[in-house]
Amino acid sequence: MNASHLDFYMKYGISPVRQDISDLDRHFQRRGALYRHLGILPQHIAGRRVCEVGPGSGYNSVFTASLQPSYYELVEGNPTGIDNIRELFRSYPQWTADIAITASRIEAFPPKPFDFVFCEGLLSGVPNPEAVLNVLAACVAPGGTLVITCVDHLSHFPETIRRVFGDLVIAQDDDLDTKVSKILPMVESHLQTLKGMSRRLDDWVIDNLIHPGSIIPLINFPEAVAVLAHDFQFLASSPHFVQDWRWYKDIVGADCDFNINAIEQYWANAHNLMDFRRRVPVRDPDANMRLYDLCTTARACVERFEHDGNRQHLAEFRTLLQEIADNFLAFSPETGAALAEAAEALDLEAFDPKKAASLQHFSGLFGCGTQYISLTRGR
Ligand SMILES: C[S@@+](CC[C@H](N)C(=O)[O-])C[C@H]1O[C@@H](n2cnc3c(N)ncnc32)[C@H](O)[C@@H]1O
Repeated sequence: MNASHLDFYMKYGISPVRQDISDLDRHFQRRGALYRHLGILPQHIAGRRVCEVGPGSGYNSVFTASLQPSYYELVEGNPTGIDNIRELFRSYPQWTADIAITASRIEAFPPKPFDFVFCEGLLSGVPNPEAVLNVLAACVAPGGTLVITCVDHLSHFPETIRRVFGDLVIAQDDDLDTKVSKILPMVESHLQTLKGMSRRLDDWVIDNLIHPGSIIPLINFPEAVAVLAHDFQFLASSPHFVQDWRWYKDIVGADCDFNINAIEQYWANAHNLMDFRRRVPVRDPDANMRLYDLCTTARACVERFEHDGNRQHLAEFRTLLQEIADNFLAFSPETGAALAEAAEALDLEAFDPKKAASLQHFSGLFGCGTQYISLTRGR
C-alpha cells in the first residue's frame, strides 16, 4: 500500500495543494497572522537565510519571498510541484527571481545552516516523521527557528469521520477523478461553512479523504516536541493554546525549559482540538489522553478497512465514535451532538450520502486540524 504524500502525488502526477491567492492582500494577511502567532515578524525574515521544505506548488512561498530573505531555498520532492512553483513564480518576478529551487527529497538534502526552516503540511503524510524531523533539525543554524506542522488523531478526527463517509460511497478501484466526483458533493456543503477556506475543494478531498498517506498513524505535537527537545525549545504555536504563567525570574537553571510546559498545555487543551468553533475550560490531561487513545483506535479501524475491505472494522469505528460522542456530551454538548449525529448517519446497511451532506450539527464540525509549531535551536 502506497502511504506517503510524495509517492501518491508522483503516482498521479499531481500537486493537490492549490490555493486561491487572487486576492493577494488577503493571502498575505493570512500568512502574516500565522507568522505572528508563531512569534515571527516580517523584519525577522528580512535579510536572513530561509529554507522551505515541501513547498508544494509554492503558494505560501510567495509571501515568505515578499519578506525579502537574503537567501531562500525551496526543497521539494514532487516534480509536478516543482513545475507548478516555476510557473507560479513567473507571476511574481519582483520577489521570486532569486529563489533557489531544489528538486530533492529532504532525506537526500545535504544539511546546511539556515536561520529559518519552514516545513508545512509534510510531517502528516510521511511514514518516517522522526527521521524527517532530525534532518530538518540539522538544517537549522544555532539560534535559528524551525517551523513544523502536526496533524493528529484527535484534531483530524472529524476528517476521519468524513473519510468513512467517503469509503462508503466509493469503490477502492475507482479512478481518482471518480472518487473525487463521488465524495465532493457529500462534503461540499460542509466545506462551505469554513469562512477562511482558501484551498481548492477537489484538492482538499484528495489530500484529506482519499490518499492513503492521510490515514496512516500521525506524529502529534507532544511527540514532535519530544523528538526535537535535545536541541530545540518551544517558541509558539498556532492556534495559540500554550499559556505560560510562570514568573520569568523563575525560568532559570534546571527550570529553563519551554518544552515541558508546551506539552502539558497540549494535554490540558487537547479536547479543544476537536471543534475549531468552540473553547471549553482545560481538562484533566489523563482524561484527554484516554480520549486521544479512543481516536487513535478508531482511526486504525479505518486504515484496516481500507487495507482489507472488512466492514467489521467500520462497525467497530462506529461504536468508538459513539463512545467519543458520549465523552464530549459530558463537557461540550454541541460538539457531542455533532459527533452523535455523525454516528447515527453512519448506518452501514443503508448509508445515505444526501443525508450525510446536510447534517445539521456535524456539517460545520472541523477540528483544529493542523497545529503549527515554532521552535528555536538552543535557548
Ligand atoms: C501536503 S503538501 C503541503 C504543501 C505546502 N507546504 C502547503 O502547506 O500548502 C506536502 C508537500 O511535501 C512534499 N513532500 C512530502 N514528502 C517529502 C520529502 N520526503 N521530501 C521533500 N518533499 C516532500 C510533497 O511533495 C508536497 O508538496
